[in-house]
Amino acid sequence: MNFSTTPLVATSLAAETGCVAKTSSAAKTSGVTEPGGAVTASAVAGPSCAAKANCTAKLSCVVEPSQLDTASTAHRRRPTPTGHFGAYGGMFVPETVIPALYELASVFDELLSDPEFHRELNYYLTSYSGRPTPLYFAERLTRECGGAKIYLKREDLNHTGAHKINNAIGQLLIAKRLGKTRVIAETGAGQHGVATATAAALFGVECCIYMGEDDIKRQSLNVYRMKLLGAEVRRVGSGTKTLKDAMNEAIRDWVTNVRDTHYAVGSAAGPHPYPTIVREFQSVIGREARAQILELECRLPDAVVACVGGGSNAIGIFDPFVDDTNVELIGVEAGGLGLATGSHAASISNKTRGILHGSFQYVMCDDDGQIKNTHSVAAGLDYPGVGPEHCLLHDTGRAKYVVVTDVEAVSVFRTLSRLEGIIPALESSHAVFHAMEMAKRMDSDAIVLVNLSGRGDKDVQDIIRGQDLGREVTV
Ligand SMILES: Cc1ncc(COP(=O)(O)O)c(C=O)c1O
Repeated sequence: MNFSTTPLVATSLAAETGCVAKTSSAAKTSGVTEPGGAVTASAVAGPSCAAKANCTAKLSCVVEPSQLDTASTAHRRRPTPTGHFGAYGGMFVPETVIPALYELASVFDELLSDPEFHRELNYYLTSYSGRPTPLYFAERLTRECGGAKIYLKREDLNHTGAHKINNAIGQLLIAKRLGKTRVIAETGAGQHGVATATAAALFGVECCIYMGEDDIKRQSLNVYRMKLLGAEVRRVGSGTKTLKDAMNEAIRDWVTNVRDTHYAVGSAAGPHPYPTIVREFQSVIGREARAQILELECRLPDAVVACVGGGSNAIGIFDPFVDDTNVELIGVEAGGLGLATGSHAASISNKTRGILHGSFQYVMCDDDGQIKNTHSVAAGLDYPGVGPEHCLLHDTGRAKYVVVTDVEAVSVFRTLSRLEGIIPALESSHAVFHAMEMAKRMDSDAIVLVNLSGRGDKDVQDIIRGQDLGREVTV
């Protein structure tokens, strides 16, 4: 392995794009400053770059194929050889799987510099999953908020309905290279389970998905999809019967069957090298979004917002923006019934740290280090930990982490459906809610970019029942 520690030193990339850095335009101005210096009236609507012929030529706002290329590694930051991002991360796992983790790290490292691997990955991401996903200007939502322009990165339009497929395809390709004949995964909302079962069907690999009993109940549609795709779904009845317990069981399975089985971890969490692998596969989101906003607006956004469960969609969209210090990065954790109630899944906001699933991180634990029960209306956010790179981004102040409650997230389910014709996943609704609140306080020339990580079809039954909120939800 040649993993080296690269500090998270931020340098402005404004020069790289040539698009005069207007990233701090949230600071009150009444118009849009043109690249040439002229000030125009700021209409609410409209991507403002695409129409400017000379802008495109002069400022190279066009998306170059290389900018959408999954092989791009320009923004990669690596952990130490033992998988540490600052104090966080590591490989706290049973001895039996340590060799498998090192083998995985080494093969992954080779694949990163293998053009054939990138060609294959790119082929499936485009021809099979439908990438690049659009960056959509949410005009009516923007008008409703009366402030900054809100752009949605439409990961919900991926095949299988969420960002999880980006990582699942990548990990199945790794499993093939490792010669593994079986793949296992944990799932909460069922999206990673569906994505893994899909990729396993695509490549003809045996697949087994671990899922908590409670999540099986609230995500029954996805359970059916996984079975239809040929996967075995193993019910986990221990602990809180949610994602954490599903991951415990998946690790147990892996320890026993490591010879022929690849464990496709679904988030940027778990032991090294998973947080790095998953970030790499998900950073295609940010690379596309960065190129697309430059094409549409000739500048970078003021803020990038994403929900945080284990942290994969958030680190995926943050990654290519980390060095753009004028771009605020905001992760939205699940505030559940409210931080004060203790019934939530906001690990960073809870401020306690410990070891979970092989990695040192912010984790919901008590004074004795025991993992606490969590709650979120969004099954995919209902996890007591968070990936190590987010912990470091938080501590260095490069990213900010906030909370949105169940009730607030559910309100967006209705708002986005009515205003934009887009039914968002409950996970993504957390991010959209915060983005709307931010936008209201910003000028109309500011830009907020939100990762719409998945679509909400899977949540409709649960919303109708209103069971997690203890009340009916009127739609
Ligand atoms: C649509 C969607 N968004 C977000 C998440 C949260 O996961 P992560 O933080 O890894 O992106 C999930 C998890 O299942 C999901 O299904």
